[in-house]
Amino acid sequence: MVKTSSGHQTKKCDLSDDLEKKIRLSVDSRIRGFTKMKKNSEWKKVVAGRHNYAVNGPEWGESEIGDSDDSMDISQGSVRMKEKRGDDLAGVRSKKIRGSGGVGEGNEEREADGDFKIILRSGNKRTRSALNSLSVEACQHSTIPAPNVHPDVHYNKIFINNEWHDAVSKKKFPTINPATGEVICHVAEGDKADVEKAVKAAKDAFKLGSPWRRMDASHRGLLLSRLADCIERDAAYLAELETLDNGKPYAVSYTVDVPMVVKCLRYYAGWADKWEGKTIPIDGDYFCYTRHEPIGVCGQIIPWNFPLLMQAWKLGPVLATGNTVVMKVAEQTPLTALYVASLIKEVGFPAGVVNIVPGMGPTAGAAIASHMDVDKVAFTGSTEVGHLIMKASSTSNLKKVTLELGGKSPNIVLSDANMEEAVEQSHFALFFNQGQCCCAGSRTYVQESIYDEFVERSVERAKKRIVGDPFNFNTEQGPQVDEEQFQKILGYISSGKREGAKLMCGGGPAADRGYFIQPTIFGDVKDDMTIAREEIFGPVMQILKFKSLEEVIERANDSKYGLAAAVFTKNIDKAHYISNGLRAGTVWINCYDVFGVQAPFGGYKASGIGRELGEYGLDNYTEVKTVTIKIPQKNS
Ligand SMILES: NC(=O)c1ccc[n+]([C@@H]2O[C@H](COP(=O)([O-])OP(=O)(O)OC[C@H]3O[C@@H](n4cnc5c(N)ncnc54)[C@H](O)[C@@H]3O)[C@@H](O)[C@H]2O)c1
Repeated sequence: MVKTSSGHQTKKCDLSDDLEKKIRLSVDSRIRGFTKMKKNSEWKKVVAGRHNYAVNGPEWGESEIGDSDDSMDISQGSVRMKEKRGDDLAGVRSKKIRGSGGVGEGNEEREADGDFKIILRSGNKRTRSALNSLSVEACQHSTIPAPNVHPDVHYNKIFINNEWHDAVSKKKFPTINPATGEVICHVAEGDKADVEKAVKAAKDAFKLGSPWRRMDASHRGLLLSRLADCIERDAAYLAELETLDNGKPYAVSYTVDVPMVVKCLRYYAGWADKWEGKTIPIDGDYFCYTRHEPIGVCGQIIPWNFPLLMQAWKLGPVLATGNTVVMKVAEQTPLTALYVASLIKEVGFPAGVVNIVPGMGPTAGAAIASHMDVDKVAFTGSTEVGHLIMKASSTSNLKKVTLELGGKSPNIVLSDANMEEAVEQSHFALFFNQGQCCCAGSRTYVQESIYDEFVERSVERAKKRIVGDPFNFNTEQGPQVDEEQFQKILGYISSGKREGAKLMCGGGPAADRGYFIQPTIFGDVKDDMTIAREEIFGPVMQILKFKSLEEVIERANDSKYGLAAAVFTKNIDKAHYISNGLRAGTVWINCYDVFGVQAPFGGYKASGIGRELGEYGLDNYTEVKTVTIKIPQKNS
């Protein structure tokens, strides 16, 4: 990077030799001001919008950045960008150069001294094995930019009233890179006093006549939509940060988590002005209608397994319906949620509408659950803590509670299933996200005539699973989120061995440092074993044998959980029969983990209360007010 005397910054992007001849690069920049671009040696001033820019040969392209979205076509050589930085750089975070047709991709990175550089990454790499095994539609991207494995952390404080705060106690906690066990940075540790401040901000923002309460519903939708745009703009950075903090493979963060976040926010953006009440034909001379009103201050407590996605699942519906929020992010993975907080401010949500408090569960989380001015709490995490949340509500103000808790989901493979598909999907059902999914298919029931072959092929597949550096594009499985989960999972593996299950592969740590665990499979698992009853939340698969449909339905339902289930068969009648008999909030047939933001998700029994996503997700954040008006005389 070169700094010119005029204060311009020059950025050089060298294109690698293997790039195709015509490369289209798009540069997204968001900063107030204007853009000036040199096109075929002529300067052109543009204010905003998308601009195509052709450079023939290794020429200079220069721009003074504005609120724009610029594109340039080059045939060979390098692109150099010159930028004049405006006074207000609050909006500048990343600039993306993306080669279409999968030829090259780069990101601008912000350095500690405030300088910028653009690195053109040798793009078009894909995690073949990882992507082939993902059935999530969002992963169908053509290119993944090579990651910056040391992304800067820009935000590590408490976000209240659109401002950054230290904890009242001044306490901080470390957030750890689970791939190495090293501290990434320290984060302000909010507790009761900070929750108090955040709730006050959220309450003020919810006052009658406040900018948020007076805002048109369509405008709320627009803000959500802009938030989705910013997340999409910063997708590579967010994916890098998510991987650093959580350990999930970067390719998955980039192709699954971030796109699903964007889709979720866009989906709920669309709902903001369509969540309508009804007119109701009651008896008598009355006109009756309902209004769908926001509940008020909503506490949201989220886990660490999908930090960005769980934040989006919560923020989408709560904001579309006009509530205000105090969110506690998981102590293991606070970083991406805090970056999103900065985007919430950037796109223009009024102060106090969203407040984010990193901190511990028993202090900050409990303070939200028991706060008298929190009108509703939505929690995702363990069933144990779900009990505590309900209790806190009952002994405080009877705030409304929705819960998305654990599971021990049955995945049922019938003898007529397509073996290859069933093996691959069952592998994915359990091992995806290091096994850290509430809906993981963690009881794999296989019909007896195909049991041996299924086990053998599943073991073969598990042995091929690539465990390692989550920033490596070939990696399918990164580390578990922290030492506690790592030890807990190893404990379950020991219990499986102790209780007589047959260890078919894996069974121990997979690296000398970091929290990596070998893909593990147990055969000959019996229903009463601990590993068949409790949520392991790790890469440990249990395979059980069954004979008849009636039997498997009964055994599948014999669990305190009821989150998800799956059936693999070519016989649609059997599929329906089993699906209708299962007590689970979601049933997948011949697929697994297929999530559409349009379709509801949630649990029967101890797996939760309420449904997230889809239209159903709006109910969680709505009070229904019935208004009845006396009219002189009904005449029709
Ligand atoms: N359903 C899911 O998506 C999900 C997600 C994470 C963990 N889990 C399950 O939970 C187990 C333990 O993981 P965990 O300890 O991180 O989960 P957890 O339930 O303790 O944590 C989830 C969230 O709740 C908060 N929390 C913890 N104690 C609280 C309290 N007393 N009051 C209010 N909030 C509190 C945490 O700080 C975190 O933000 C896992 O092994 C897994 O079985 C499930």
